[in-house]
Amino acid sequence: MEISIPFTKILSFLCSFLIFSVSWDVLAQTQPDIQKGFLHCLHSKDGYNNSIPNIIYTPNNPSYTPTLLSSIQNIRFLSPDHTKPLAIITPLKNMHVQSAVSCAKNYNIQIRVRCGGHDYEGLSYLSYFKQPFIIVDLRNLSSISIDTKTKTAWIGGGVRLGGLYHAIAEKSPNLAFPAGTCPSVGSGGHVSGGGEGALTRKFGLAADNMIDAKIVNADGAILDRKSMGEDLFWAIRGGGAASFGIIVAYKLKLVDIPTIVTVFAPNRTLEQNATQLIYKWQHVAYKFDRDLFVRILITRVNLNGTLTVQGQFQSLFLGRVEKLLPLMQESFPELGLKKEDCTEMKWIEAVLFFSDLPSGSTVNDLVLSSSYPKRYYKAKSDYVVDPISEIALEGLWKRFYEKEAERAQLIFSPSGGRMFEIPESETPYPHRAGNLYQIQHLVYWTEEENAQSQIYIDWIRRLYKYMAPFVSKSPRGAYLNYRDLDLGENKEGNKTTYAQASTWGLKYFKNNFYRLARVKTLADPSNLFRNEQSIPPFSTS
Ligand SMILES: Cc1cc2nc3c(=O)[nH]c(=O)nc-3n(C[C@H](O)[C@H](O)[C@H](O)COP(=O)(O)OP(=O)(O)OC[C@H]3O[C@@H](n4cnc5c(N)ncnc54)[C@H](O)[C@@H]3O)c2cc1C
Ligand SMILES: *[C@@H]1O[C@H](CO)[C@@H](O)[C@H](O)[C@H]1NC(C)=O
Ligand SMILES: *[C@@H]1O[C@H](CO)[C@@H](O)[C@H](O)[C@H]1NC(C)=O
Ligand SMILES: *[C@@H]1O[C@H](CO)[C@@H](O)[C@H](O)[C@H]1NC(C)=O
Ligand SMILES: *[C@@H]1O[C@H](CO)[C@@H](O)[C@H](O)[C@H]1NC(C)=O
Ligand SMILES: *[C@@H]1O[C@H](CO)[C@@H](O)[C@H](O)[C@H]1NC(C)=O
Ligand SMILES: *[C@@H]1O[C@H](CO)[C@@H](O)[C@H](O)[C@H]1NC(C)=O
Repeated sequence: MEISIPFTKILSFLCSFLIFSVSWDVLAQTQPDIQKGFLHCLHSKDGYNNSIPNIIYTPNNPSYTPTLLSSIQNIRFLSPDHTKPLAIITPLKNMHVQSAVSCAKNYNIQIRVRCGGHDYEGLSYLSYFKQPFIIVDLRNLSSISIDTKTKTAWIGGGVRLGGLYHAIAEKSPNLAFPAGTCPSVGSGGHVSGGGEGALTRKFGLAADNMIDAKIVNADGAILDRKSMGEDLFWAIRGGGAASFGIIVAYKLKLVDIPTIVTVFAPNRTLEQNATQLIYKWQHVAYKFDRDLFVRILITRVNLNGTLTVQGQFQSLFLGRVEKLLPLMQESFPELGLKKEDCTEMKWIEAVLFFSDLPSGSTVNDLVLSSSYPKRYYKAKSDYVVDPISEIALEGLWKRFYEKEAERAQLIFSPSGGRMFEIPESETPYPHRAGNLYQIQHLVYWTEEENAQSQIYIDWIRRLYKYMAPFVSKSPRGAYLNYRDLDLGENKEGNKTTYAQASTWGLKYFKNNFYRLARVKTLADPSNLFRNEQSIPPFSTS
């Protein structure tokens, strides 16, 4: 399943980009005053007018394209058809972010903020709007400061999860942070959009464990939790920060974990009763002891020339194997877990186990964002409230035998535990009690198949339609961090109404969407921070 980006692909893209940049320049000519004015504005600001390393990349800078491309995670957006930013800014200090916001506002330039670049629809680095835009890329706001006494961490808005996990493990074998399983995911998008992984059942979302933040608002001011107030602080714990400002730092609450944890990941094919096991899993996984997390990765596999569907029961237990086995025997004996299937290790090694990094990687590779494979894909999400019948599951498997599903994957992630205790309105993320598990639907394709990417996108849209009767309804829930523009999007300009945005807003946030729009109206009434799926302010006209 690991499809790394071939170097030739980057080269051929760079070439097509050079051709493309000619027409881009022509486009820019129509707005020369804007670009000039913006750059002039920046250079007059404190922090930019001193001799510092270059942090402004305009299209004629040879580092512009490599900087733009380097953290594009979904490489279907490498396509040169997209409008490119008139500049990329890589701030080294908070002040650089403030100046970029002020100058962009003066010249009516759109701002895209990028941390890890993992947005499923590329909204941190491309714009479907015609308006000129800049990227504020936070890669260099990467400081991490951990206090083991108070069990808290302050991290820069550009820190990626792997770097955070690694830094925590260096300080203590008994501390962790509950967030996603992919090390190259950025905290900027992830924590402010929810953030879930193998520790979620015990400790809740990453956003649930955010205790302070520093955000640059539409006036270019830096606010912390106290000065932003509890409404805005509520909104950025799951509502996506991109609608409200630029987060330059988070304060996170770290959690206690045992020195030794246990992982296991047995595979079961249809011939090994995968359907019955998955059916049963739906009834028990959300009720397991909260130290036990068992998710299922479902793919099509080719075993000796025979296609079948396989569930991999990828699991973490916060304890040792002798405690795990009786627990599994009691709650899920059908899986037939044996001691030989289990490995005891440190939590940071378990992070590596879940990470999908190429085999042979070490915990130090968790820090290197470049080691994570980049892929072509389209994804969607769902929440399941009632267990899906075996017949409906079999209908799902049928779709896995279609040609487009060769590299498709479903991820069933259990809820329960702490997630069921947090009220629906406590943070913008509403998918709490009653949601047994979340499904992520994914379809990947290769470089060779990219010319036909539409057939894969059509496949996953058909799958999503098939799933409708079996998942949450009115609204059908979706997870903001698995962003899906099929759910609806804001149009050009800043005139999207609350009612128009409700098509997707209610799916991500249920009734919290209304409060998000209220917070937005107060925090950013002119809608400076907007993108194709940002929260709209209530219209004042
Ligand atoms: C391979 C892969 C694995 C994943 N695994 C998980 C997982 O295990 N669990 C899970 O919950 N999710 C997972 N995700 C989804 C991930 O949480 C989201 O894509 C997340 O939004 C990515 O954050 P980012 O900073 O990397 O992305 P970016 O593309 O940089 O940003 C995403 C959005 O947040 C905004 N943003 C980024 N930084 C800031 C900031 N500092 N201030 C304001 N706005 C900002 C951007 O403008 C954009 O709108 C995964 C995604 C991928 C591609
Ligand atoms: C940079 O600009 C700031 C604000 O405009 C000003 O106060 C400062 O003196 C300038 N610094 C230099 C070195 O020009
Ligand atoms: C900014 O971050 C990039 C990527 O992590 C790194 O290569 C570069 O050296 C950093 N620049 C500065 C000035 O720290
Ligand atoms: C389970 O299947 C996956 C995907 O086919 C494979 O990579 C992995 O090695 C298998 N695990 C075991 C324990 O056989
Ligand atoms: C599958 O389930 C059947 C009936 O419950 C059982 O007899 C059989 O042993 C199981 N097969 C495997 C491989 O576990
Ligand atoms: C595949 O074939 C090999 C060699 O014939 C055999 O040893 C192995 O058990 C087969 N695996 C499966 C899953 O059928
Ligand atoms: C957005 O709305 C504000 C206030 O109504 C207006 O001043 C501004 O020009 C608008 N911007 C765009 C790009 O339409």
